[in-house]
Amino acid sequence: MPPRTSVAEFRELVNSSTRILALCGAGLSAASGLPTFRGAGGLWRNHESTSLATPEAFEADPALVWLFYAWRRHMALRARPNRGHYALAELAKKKDGFLCLTQNVDGESRFAARRMACIVLLDNKCFNECGYVDHNNLDDPVCPALAPAAEDYPPDKTLPLLDPNVPVPPINVEDLPHCPNCKTGLLRPGVVWFGEALDEAMLREVDVWVVRGKIDLMLVVGTAAAVYPAAGYTRQAKRRGAAVAVVNPDPSAAEGLSSRDFFFQGDAAEILPQLFEGVIGKMDQNGQIIES
Ligand code: OAD
Repeated sequence: MPPRTSVAEFRELVNSSTRILALCGAGLSAASGLPTFRGAGGLWRNHESTSLATPEAFEADPALVWLFYAWRRHMALRARPNRGHYALAELAKKKDGFLCLTQNVDGESRFAARRMACIVLLDNKCFNECGYVDHNNLDDPVCPALAPAAEDYPPDKTLPLLDPNVPVPPINVEDLPHCPNCKTGLLRPGVVWFGEALDEAMLREVDVWVVRGKIDLMLVVGTAAAVYPAAGYTRQAKRRGAAVAVVNPDPSAAEGLSSRDFFFQGDAAEILPQLFEGVIGKMDQNGQIIES
């Protein structure tokens, strides 16, 4: 049996739910103009975005990885939260038992999320792990050599950096940001890369929340749910009784859902305000609640 798609039935479930867990991914910020990692928009020049998100990629070509992150950073600094972010933030105000996990580093979901997997796109830290962290660095570009990643172009024109036919601007490693503390090497983006550990204290806190009791609803919003440990939370929530609701434009995201679960196909920024309307009230196009 396919999952349910009835908004009315879902609203009843949200109304009656006490403990709600949400797992959000890059798709939540797609409507804010931020590209996802996988699927459409997952290619950067002709690199898979995920192939640039590793310590090995940085070691092999720090200038290329810095250009990629300097560009994502530039986009994130210009982006505004969308109605999906606002809807989650409103739900968090209304439901004490709501825990929102996000894998996004753009900062847009920060105010909706109680726990963050990694929120530190704007932090830079020492690649040689001396412990130095430059928190919330808003410099854009990060340094003069990375200026090609911070250019604004009209929407109908392609930024030269994004055109794989235009060679990557030559950048000397000496001109990339260096660690002012240990002075032994480069600074790197403060994000958690593949193969690196998430913050242990944060993971423990989430585990404590999960095992505390029955979970009524598990929301999976805009994530391919491909990366552990985040991906494992759906299984854990199901074991604690949760119905799962997936919001994603890609029909394959509904795979594995049963007839007691829900699938809402489309843009999270459009769908979440509708889904939560019974709890948060009606939201206008700017994310303001106009009727509660
Ligand atoms: P992905 O880029 O893997 O997946 C994005 C998901 O969002 C896909 O399932 C899309 O179908 C969906 N999507 C696209 N537009 C959407 C929209 N408007 N509304 C709702 N959904 C939409 O992103 P994540 O699952 O977040 O890690 O990726 C998890 C981790 O893998 C990231 O933190 C990052 C990435 O590689 C690192 O960089 C280490």
